[in-house]
Amino acid sequence: MTKRILLTGADGQLGSELRQRVAMMTAAYTLHATDQAELDIADPAQIEAAIQDFAPDVLINAAAYTAVDQAESQRELAFKVNAEGPANLAKAAQQAGIRMIHVSTDYVFNGQQCRPWKTDDPVAPINVYGESKLAGEQAVQRYLPDAVIIRTAWVYSRYGQNFVKTMIRLMNERDSLGIIADQIGSPTHAGRLAEILLSAVDQPEFTGISHWTDAGVASWYDFAQSIYTLGRERGLVQHDCQINPITTSDYPTPAQRPAFSVMDCQRSRAQLGHARHWREQLQMMLDELKTDYDGANA
Ligand SMILES: NC(=O)c1ccc[n+]([C@@H]2O[C@H](COP(=O)([O-])OP(=O)(O)OC[C@H]3O[C@@H](n4cnc5c(N)ncnc54)[C@H](OP(=O)(O)O)[C@@H]3O)[C@@H](O)[C@H]2O)c1
Repeated sequence: MTKRILLTGADGQLGSELRQRVAMMTAAYTLHATDQAELDIADPAQIEAAIQDFAPDVLINAAAYTAVDQAESQRELAFKVNAEGPANLAKAAQQAGIRMIHVSTDYVFNGQQCRPWKTDDPVAPINVYGESKLAGEQAVQRYLPDAVIIRTAWVYSRYGQNFVKTMIRLMNERDSLGIIADQIGSPTHAGRLAEILLSAVDQPEFTGISHWTDAGVASWYDFAQSIYTLGRERGLVQHDCQINPITTSDYPTPAQRPAFSVMDCQRSRAQLGHARHWREQLQMMLDELKTDYDGANA
């Protein structure tokens, strides 16, 4: 029997990757994909109506306020989307008796340790975005203790805006770039994350908080170096650009960011699917990007 999935935030990086994958698996899933215009997660009435109309088995929340620096000056909006939104969804899911899969972030941690973060390590966000996402997790757990909450990090995709696309643009425009080398994490492809969420849809017994990133670790500088080398090979970067390591203090931003964001993903990798190394995933994404750019320029 096909599983009926109600998806929020369908036009974001993760939402778009989910739509793309479900389109290839129509025998397994019936998807109702909603963007913000159709379903604003801050509006409980819209959520209720969507659940009533579509009668999903599972609700996947890919909607979020993700502008980390802007959140410092838009606290209210960040909390409305990242805390009240998930609370509204979880409350409605509880009332309708449906499962919920929610996505959270490494930014619930303060980054002040040097071993991978476990799911039960103490949370202590250091920016407004992280605070709002933590409040969202807590609200979801309050209404639906069995909800799936997957914390992820450093997400990129051929869709939407992200570090990889920004780097390619800047590398084509500039002779040199200074990239932060003292923040460490795991770049994560939204497409593989989408597959992991679908694996959670298929496993009703899988519940609670878990972590998911691609395998391996990198600094932003390492990530940028790989984007440059692999982008050059594919003709996505057509300009010589020197990538220089800098420190966090050389590049002040409104929001503080955790220094060490690597997450322990043992449980999700054992139960939901294996992880590929981030560099392998980056190669795949750059191949897709090349197809997109070539198509747009044809
Ligand atoms: N990107 C990362 O590096 C990263 C890292 C860790 C965790 N995460 C988490 O991963 C999840 C997916 O992130 P992503 O990178 O796919 O984000 P994204 O590309 O920014 O997509 C988020 C989507 O949510 C929509 N949205 C915003 N407010 C909404 C509302 N009130 N109601 C309904 N939709 C709304 C946005 O629409 P508009 O574009 O119209 O605003 C956008 O389409 C999020 O939970 C995020 O917090 C992301």
